[in-house]
Amino acid sequence: MPGPHFARRDPNDPAFWDERFTQRFMPWDQGGVPPMLARFVADAPTPLVTLIPGCGLGHEVRHLALAQWDVTAIDFSPAAVASAHLALHEFAGHVQQADFFTFQPERPLGFIYERAFLCALPRERWPAVAARWAELLPAGALLGGFFFFDDAPKGPPFGAGPDDIAALLRTAFVLEEDVAVEQSIAVFAGKERWQLWRRRND
Ligand SMILES: C[S@@+](CC[C@H](N)C(=O)[O-])C[C@H]1O[C@@H](n2cnc3c(N)ncnc32)[C@H](O)[C@@H]1O
Repeated sequence: MPGPHFARRDPNDPAFWDERFTQRFMPWDQGGVPPMLARFVADAPTPLVTLIPGCGLGHEVRHLALAQWDVTAIDFSPAAVASAHLALHEFAGHVQQADFFTFQPERPLGFIYERAFLCALPRERWPAVAARWAELLPAGALLGGFFFFDDAPKGPPFGAGPDDIAALLRTAFVLEEDVAVEQSIAVFAGKERWQLWRRRND
């Protein structure tokens, strides 16, 4: 059987992701809710207004909505959004097509959830991602999720070195939690950490 064939090579281009979702090539997809996110939601004292940038199939949307969190998930790939809508049934209304770099939330955010979005983009885009995270989150709000540590030059996924994420975030955020992830899927196994960063006062 022939493997998938991709013409697009630039992950900054929605068409790159369209090809992969259309051909059902999604090695990053967890197929469910990562246990560390479920624990974070269960332990949170109050539901948070949440944004999921680059949501892909958006498995987390159902979990957050059922926990009464006000969740919006965005993706700039029309094929990703169509796949998420199909997968999420009655929760599809939480997912919209939008570019993270221009998206404007309707309500002030309390939490941005990160999973396989930063590492989907080439490292030269990372300062722009970090600047947008800082713009979108008010003082005291949280950025949290899964960060991928690896030094392979090619991607996606593009990994960080041990100090890269701290260098990227420490001006605008304070690290509150940093834990190794034990139940990773194959592409991220042994190389991802759950981190929680709180937005500083400007
Ligand atoms: C590797 S996938 C991860 C999907 C999902 N977060 C997950 O964990 O399964 C990266 C996703 O980010 C999306 N993406 C990349 N750049 C984006 C941008 N500027 N705005 C919105 N979505 C973007 C892609 O379309 C793709 O669905």
